[in-house]
Amino acid sequence: MSTERVPFIAGNWKMNLDHQQAIALVQKLAWTLSDANHDYSKTEVAVFPPFTDLRTVQTLIDAEKFQIGLGAQDMSQHDSGAYTGDISGSFLKKLDVKYVILGHSERRVYHHEDDELIQAKVAAAFKHDLVPVICVGETLEQLEQFGQSAIPVAQLKKAITGHSQVGEFIIAYEPVWAIGTGQVATPEQAAEVAKSLREAISEVLSEDIAQRVRILYGGSVKSSNVAGFLKNPEVDGVLVGGASLQVEEFAGISRFLKHLTL
Ligand code: PGA
Repeated sequence: MSTERVPFIAGNWKMNLDHQQAIALVQKLAWTLSDANHDYSKTEVAVFPPFTDLRTVQTLIDAEKFQIGLGAQDMSQHDSGAYTGDISGSFLKKLDVKYVILGHSERRVYHHEDDELIQAKVAAAFKHDLVPVICVGETLEQLEQFGQSAIPVAQLKKAITGHSQVGEFIIAYEPVWAIGTGQVATPEQAAEVAKSLREAISEVLSEDIAQRVRILYGGSVKSSNVAGFLKNPEVDGVLVGGASLQVEEFAGISRFLKHLTL
């Protein structure tokens, strides 16, 4: 973590927890963090539930004045129309959703999302004043063939190029071989790619934007390994899948500063 950028801890629930289970998890998470006097101004915490949970979670956050941020896991590149099953960014905005994950490797693989589509979704997110969490990462074969940074950098460049308006965005570097596998990248690997990604932002947009964008690491993050990643000034947070479904684990990850000062 750097001193200028507020660390961002994101919980990607994927297709887990219905809206009732979501209430239980968010309540417990907020209470656990409040018992530990969590300072949200020093470490931002956000959850990314399935679409069908968003209204419930938003109502809960609003009613209880929780400081947990809310994000969606995907959105359409279109505003409205005959797109069965798709969700518009304007609907998310109406629900006070602030963040949206775009280009997750599971969307790229299972839904054949390519860089062009992800670029169009990023444009739609900017248009609706949502903060895209743009996911990039290489497969094991790509790692062996091209090394670590080439694919994530190429994916990122495409996603952030050619926009008439550019709002706030976050990058998540998630090596595909580390997602849900327990095979975690080393903090040095994560930091090296984050550095290349920041250079790419500077090249495509500006150095000022590059310094402001938060770059997360994702892939088998747990409370026991999170501090290693965040020790490095290049890494500004984590995108957590499996471990975000366990309150104690996710609260422990969110409280990584505690591990850092130990
Ligand atoms: P994981 O997933 O933490 O379960 O590896 C990360 C992600 O896919 O965002």
